[in-house]
Amino acid sequence: MPPGSMRYEAQTVGGMRAAFATYGLQSRTSFDNRHNALMSKPSGLRCIRCSTLLPVTAYARGCKTCAAAGVAANLTVAYEPGQSMARPGPPTPNASMWRFDAHLPVDAREAITLGEGATPLVRVQKLGLGDLWIKDESCNPTWSFKDRLASASVSMAVKLGARVIASSSSGNAGAATAAYAAKAGLPCVVVTFQGAAGPMVTQMRAYGAMLLVVPTSADRWRVLSAAVDRFGWYPTSVYYGPAVGSNPYGIEGYKTIAYEIAESLHWRSPDWCVLPVCYADALYGIWKGFDEMRRYGWIDRVPRFAAAEISGSFAAAMTAGLDQPPVRERAVPTIAASIGAAQGTYQGVHALRASNGVAMFIEDEAMFIWQEKMARTEGIWAEPSAAATLPLIERLRARGIIAANASVVALMTAGGLKDPDAADRRFGALPSATGNVDDAVRVLKDAYGFDAGQ
Ligand SMILES: Cc1ncc(COP(=O)(O)O)c(C=O)c1O
Ligand SMILES: [Zn+2]
Repeated sequence: MPPGSMRYEAQTVGGMRAAFATYGLQSRTSFDNRHNALMSKPSGLRCIRCSTLLPVTAYARGCKTCAAAGVAANLTVAYEPGQSMARPGPPTPNASMWRFDAHLPVDAREAITLGEGATPLVRVQKLGLGDLWIKDESCNPTWSFKDRLASASVSMAVKLGARVIASSSSGNAGAATAAYAAKAGLPCVVVTFQGAAGPMVTQMRAYGAMLLVVPTSADRWRVLSAAVDRFGWYPTSVYYGPAVGSNPYGIEGYKTIAYEIAESLHWRSPDWCVLPVCYADALYGIWKGFDEMRRYGWIDRVPRFAAAEISGSFAAAMTAGLDQPPVRERAVPTIAASIGAAQGTYQGVHALRASNGVAMFIEDEAMFIWQEKMARTEGIWAEPSAAATLPLIERLRARGIIAANASVVALMTAGGLKDPDAADRRFGALPSATGNVDDAVRVLKDAYGFDAGQ
C-alpha cells in the first residue's frame, strides 16, 4: 500500500490514535507537528517475516500475524520513499553515528546523543586468525555497542512523546538506556533480577535509573510487560517471551556499525562479520545496514554472518530450517551473562539465512582463553561474551568454512571492565612485595618466572 493513499493514511493514523490511547502518549497533534516539521522518515514498521505494515507507534509488540502462526517476529523500520541514496562524505571532527541520519529514524538535530559511534576498526595480526579486524565498541560513551541502540531508541521515544523509558536488562543495555534517558531528561525504570551485580548495575544507578530487583528473570518480563501495557512505558529492550528482539527503532542504530565498517575498508565489505549474539539485535541491524548499502550501490555485496552463542538455539534453528528458534536451556550457568538467553529470535535467523551464515555454540572456557590471548598479544581486552567471536573464527577457519584468505570483522561488543570478576578469579592472589628491590626481584621470579637481571 503506497504512502499517501487513503487506506494507508487511515491505517497509519488510526493505528497511531489507538496507540496514543493505549500507551498514554502525548496528543497526536504534538506528535504530528514534530513529525511533519522534520519530514522524516519512518513511514511505518514492517514485519521482518511476513511484511505486514504497521503504524510507527506499534513498536511495543512484534507481529501479531506471525505470533498467531507460532513465530515471534520483530518489526523493522520502513522509510518514506525519496530517502537519500548518496554515499556520505568523509566524517567531520566529532562526528557521531548521527552523520548517517538520512538512514535513521530521527533527524540528527533531534537526536539524544552522547557522541556514540565512530569506533575504531583495529587490525589484529598476532592471534593467528588470518585477516582479522576488531570493531571496538568499547569506545562508546557507556563503553558498549548498546549505546547505538539506546541513542536511536530514546531519540524516537522523545519524538513519540513517551514519558517513561524502561528496560529489563541487568547488563549493557540497561546501562546504556539509563544514560540516554538521563540525557533526555526522562525517568528510567530498569527491572532486574536477584543476583544481578557488578559494574553494569552500578552504572545504571550512577545514571539515576530506578533499579527494581524482582526474584527471577521471568518476573522481570512479567512486571515490565504489564507496565508497558498499563502505563505506556517505552521499552528499549526485550521484555516478553518468546522474544522478538529489542525496540525496532533502537536496532536501526546498529546499521551504522555496517556503514562505518564499509567506510573504514574503503567501501568494501569484509567477507565475514562475526558477532556474539543473544537476541541478535545487532546481527540483524548490521546485516540490514549492509543490505541497504548494497541496494544503494555503496558496496557490491553483503558479508556472510557468523553468530557465537552460548545456548545453541540459533544453530538448532539453522540446522532444522526453523523460523522459531527452540529453547535450549544450559545445564550449567555461563560466565557470559550478557548473552545468556536460552532462545534465539527470528530476526537473527532471517539475517543468518539471507547472508548464507552460520551459528555455533561456544563454551565458557574458550571465551576465557581467547579473551586472555587478545588482551596479552594485542592490548585489547574484551568482556568475556565479546570474546566468543574469536574461538568461533578459529573453528570456522579450521573447517574451511571461512576460507584461509577471507577477511573477517569481529564485533567487540564491550570491554573487559564491564565484567571483570571472572577474569580476576582466574588470576589468583595478587603478588605483593616489600619496598626492598631484592624482595621485588624474588617475587617477580616466584610469581611470574621473570628474571629481572636479564
Ligand atoms: C557484551 C554483549 N555482547 C553481545 C550481546 C548480544 O546482543 P544482541 O542481543 O544484539 O545479540 C550483548 C547483549 O545482550 C552484550 O551485552
Ligand atoms: Zn509477520
